Amino acid sequence: MNGEARRRLATRMKKAVSLVFRFRDQTGIRGFYRFAHGWRFADRAALINHLFVVHGFESYLEIGVRNRSDLYDRINATTKVGVDPDPTAEADHILTSDSYFERSDATFDIIFIDGLHTGEQVARDIANALKALNPGGMILLHDLNPPTALHAREEFEIDGAFPAACPQWNGSSWRGYAMHRKSDPGLEMYVVDVDWGVGFIRPGRQILYAGPAETYSDLESHRKEILRLITVREFLGRHPARPHAP
Ligand SMILES: C[S@@+](CC[C@H](N)C(=O)[O-])C[C@H]1O[C@@H](n2cnc3c(N)ncnc32)[C@H](O)[C@@H]1O
Repeated sequence: MNGEARRRLATRMKKAVSLVFRFRDQTGIRGFYRFAHGWRFADRAALINHLFVVHGFESYLEIGVRNRSDLYDRINATTKVGVDPDPTAEADHILTSDSYFERSDATFDIIFIDGLHTGEQVARDIANALKALNPGGMILLHDLNPPTALHAREEFEIDGAFPAACPQWNGSSWRGYAMHRKSDPGLEMYVVDVDWGVGFIRPGRQILYAGPAETYSDLESHRKEILRLITVREFLGRHPARPHAP
């Protein structure tokens, strides 16, 4: 086998391994669906790329990037901007989301919120992102459907270490989303039950959630009403591929 063939085989194997990990390492619906850009494993990248095709979008802002290969590089946008305060992150702007929104007046078709996973920060990221949307634009968010209280803990670490028993930290991002479910009737909001809960927000109308949304036990008792959980199929029904889409 020559060098080129070996490289191609290694790339294929890397893709297969990463798919297996993506398949295992998430909650919610798992499987392949026909998105506007083809048959894809249902995850945050598939939902976002579907919206780019269906709505003819061009620009993308990612809040919280870490490694570009995890998501940023997988998004089919003409213009992409990534923001992350960690100097080792592969972001275009090494800034917190608050500092970025303070300094920039750029606007985007899709803003993906996946930065600091605390309720207050996510609520603020949503408010700032709404002001930075192009007309017709949309916000997506990650980690809104934590399966246990441990996944939904406020702090990333416990006693100075990341708990091995819980490979994913969803944090209290759901609480920030819930603040807008309780207070802003001028939004359309729901969460697709896939990939740890992928939230969707755009200007529109909603019946506000009036119950408690402070603790994890509030989420457990009122998960469907707080999040407005929908399936991948329902998401595809709300954003049908146009006939000319590939
Ligand atoms: C879960 S990772 C992002 C993963 C990536 N978006 C993906 O889909 O795979 C969260 C990132 O948010 C960054 N972050 C932490 N605080 C932030 C803040 N205040 N503003 C923006 N990003 C922040 C962290 O440095 C970390 O790299």
